Amino acid sequence: MTNNIPLKIAGVGYSLPKTVVTNDDLTKLYDTSDEWIYSRTGIKERRVVSGEENAVDLGFDAAQKAIEKAGINPNEIDLIIAASSAPPELYPAIACHIQSKLGIEAHIPAFDITAACSGLLYGMQIGRAFISSGIYKNILIVATDNNSRLLDWSDRGTSILFGDGAGAMVLTPSDDGIDDIIAIDIKSNGSIGEYISLPLPGQNCPLVEPCSTKKFQIYMNGKEVYKFVVKILPGYIVDMIEQAGMKAEDIDYLIPHQANQRIIDAVQDRLGYSDDKVISNIKYYGNTSAASVPIALAEGVEKGKIKLGSTAILCGFGAGMTWGAAIVRLREGIC
Ligand code: COA
Repeated sequence: MTNNIPLKIAGVGYSLPKTVVTNDDLTKLYDTSDEWIYSRTGIKERRVVSGEENAVDLGFDAAQKAIEKAGINPNEIDLIIAASSAPPELYPAIACHIQSKLGIEAHIPAFDITAACSGLLYGMQIGRAFISSGIYKNILIVATDNNSRLLDWSDRGTSILFGDGAGAMVLTPSDDGIDDIIAIDIKSNGSIGEYISLPLPGQNCPLVEPCSTKKFQIYMNGKEVYKFVVKILPGYIVDMIEQAGMKAEDIDYLIPHQANQRIIDAVQDRLGYSDDKVISNIKYYGNTSAASVPIALAEGVEKGKIKLGSTAILCGFGAGMTWGAAIVRLREGIC
């Protein structure tokens, strides 16, 4: 088996539902205010799915854009990995739906991973291992979530935060020997998993015992998540940069998970970055979970906030608790 084949980030894309829910709209659901939400999170509005639209549709749209930018035919894809924390169903996997929607008839592998808002980073690490070892060539990662269907819309501490959306990335072997992933790392700490959870409904066999079931909705202890992330994330990123033999100023952009503007600010402060180096769109989309980093990347390029031919640090964290970061090269033409 060939080893250490360098990889290229060949294309990225994103997709958002059209329906906008503003902070003012939320005041119709519970006692809150635009001022309370914006000052604590940086969020003004979020997008939500409507009708029959779901994470598969958003993911398919984002995937098509990323594949087009990568300049490959869907039939050249060897593996699809989908990352989602709020999928429309547990199975079939989102990745299998996307294989079908892309019209890929070959029996390629397609599977979902559950790493919540670290999903893109987890997908990239898995994809890198497959490309590096020569097992698969063209890998599609789709990070997509329809959080709005699984939120408790009476829980004002949680439902203010999340929105829906999708991002996608195509990884291929690099044709010039340059690896676009300069450094990558993923982590988890299952002992604090209760900070954010989405228990499936279910009950024991009635022949065994009667029992109650939890509601199928997202639970979050926002305060503990906040404390944990602010404690570990800035140092984790600084260590990764150091271990890569780089300095913060060697990297052009920080593209963080969009969970809370105050968390983004904490990382920005630690890196000493000016505002133009930090990509933030949380004001308009809220926290789109797995989709948040690839949306920030693809939209940042589209809106001219990110110039290509540059380097960036991507970072994510979420339920699990999971977290991860990558220092990447962003080539011309990926978006
Ligand atoms: N509007 C008005 N008041 C609200 C409110 C809302 N939307 N949500 C909560 N409150 C109230 C609470 O009831 C509480 O009132 P009390 O003191 O009278 O009991 C008070 O505000 C403080 O609540 P608390 O939950 O401690 O707020 P907080 O300062 O921790 O802010 C978050 C809540 C969710 C904004 C914040 O914890 C956060 O952003 N955490 C990070 C979550 C995250 O990043 N999750 C995603 C990970 S991928």
